[in-house]
Amino acid sequence: MKAYELKEMTGSAGLILNVERPEPEAGHGEVKIKVHATSLNYRDLLVASGRYPAKTDSSLIPLSDGAGEVVAVGTGVTRFKVGDRVAGTFFQGWSGGAVSAEFTARALGGTVDGMLAEYVVLPEDGAIHTPDYLSYEEAATLPCAGLTAWNAVVESGRIRAGETVLLLGTGGVSLFALQFAKLQGAHVIIASSSDEKLARAKALGADTLINYITTPDWEKEVVKATQGRGVDLVVEVGGGGTLERSIKSVRVGGTIAIIGVVAGPGQVEPRTVIAKAARLQGIFVGSAEMFTAMNRAVAQAALKPVIGRTFTFDEAGLAYEYQSSGSHFGKIVIKVCD
Ligand SMILES: NC(=O)c1ccc[n+]([C@@H]2O[C@H](COP(=O)([O-])OP(=O)(O)OC[C@H]3O[C@@H](n4cnc5c(N)ncnc54)[C@H](OP(=O)(O)O)[C@@H]3O)[C@@H](O)[C@H]2O)c1
Repeated sequence: MKAYELKEMTGSAGLILNVERPEPEAGHGEVKIKVHATSLNYRDLLVASGRYPAKTDSSLIPLSDGAGEVVAVGTGVTRFKVGDRVAGTFFQGWSGGAVSAEFTARALGGTVDGMLAEYVVLPEDGAIHTPDYLSYEEAATLPCAGLTAWNAVVESGRIRAGETVLLLGTGGVSLFALQFAKLQGAHVIIASSSDEKLARAKALGADTLINYITTPDWEKEVVKATQGRGVDLVVEVGGGGTLERSIKSVRVGGTIAIIGVVAGPGQVEPRTVIAKAARLQGIFVGSAEMFTAMNRAVAQAALKPVIGRTFTFDEAGLAYEYQSSGSHFGKIVIKVCD
């Protein structure tokens, strides 16, 4: 079968199309999936450049996110049958309940082989049915960015109607967070480097738009937009480079969902957190149980994931370069087959 392997952690240059991988077969308790589509996450750039926990002993099939069709089931499989439409779960082992080191040890496209291949075999508790109305391309965007946003806004963030959420940028996590925050009835403030992307975010329901390039002190705009109170939740994908401003943006007693590092390093003065009595909550994707709850909500609202651009299987290297350019809006998809 055709599969990509990351031979070296040197970005897209380390990505090699390998036609020699044997097709995997489903063993006891496993399902074999014909992958139709995969999607990229910023995390996959971190993996490719050696800045994220991943197996480095040999070669890794990259990407956590993919969706496809069950083509064989091993003995003992009870939840799936041939023909079912499924996605893999980011963590191969976090079925539900509170997070633990054991549950997050096996991550697709990181510590174990991922989805950028024609066929994959997963344990049945590492796969989940996808909502019927979504295309494979759309379903392939949900396992990492979708679930992380769902966890940040709904599971951990517990956002309720009338509350205010601040989003940074218009990448995969932030646009899903926009859609989930609107589903919950929240007011959404979004900051982006581009007025054109802000206009597209407005069309998706964003209420207050800030260009963080032309308004470098964007936290002041956030405070002004909330009549001095601050937001209830920040979906913090920037990391050190934005955290100080996010702390200034949150209300007293509010929550900052600590998710990403796209804005690079920086320093935070702990007293600012104390003065806000803010909750800084690390988010690590989510469990299969949360994924199921998200799929129910997504299907009920007929929510459509935002796909910025789709590449063919042969163009996977270009897809990586496009993701690292930062010019995308929402998700980047790689189609594996029709
Ligand atoms: N903890 C977890 O479980 C988890 C899960 C998923 C992702 N993540 C992390 O979350 C982050 C986002 O992931 P993603 O896949 O959504 O990334 P992505 O699709 O590549 O989106 C990145 C976007 O961030 C915005 N951005 C860049 N620099 C910024 C800055 N200085 N201030 C504000 N926004 C900035 C840009 O949007 P504009 O072009 O609109 O400015 C850019 O397009 C990554 O660090 C990723 O590793 C963590």
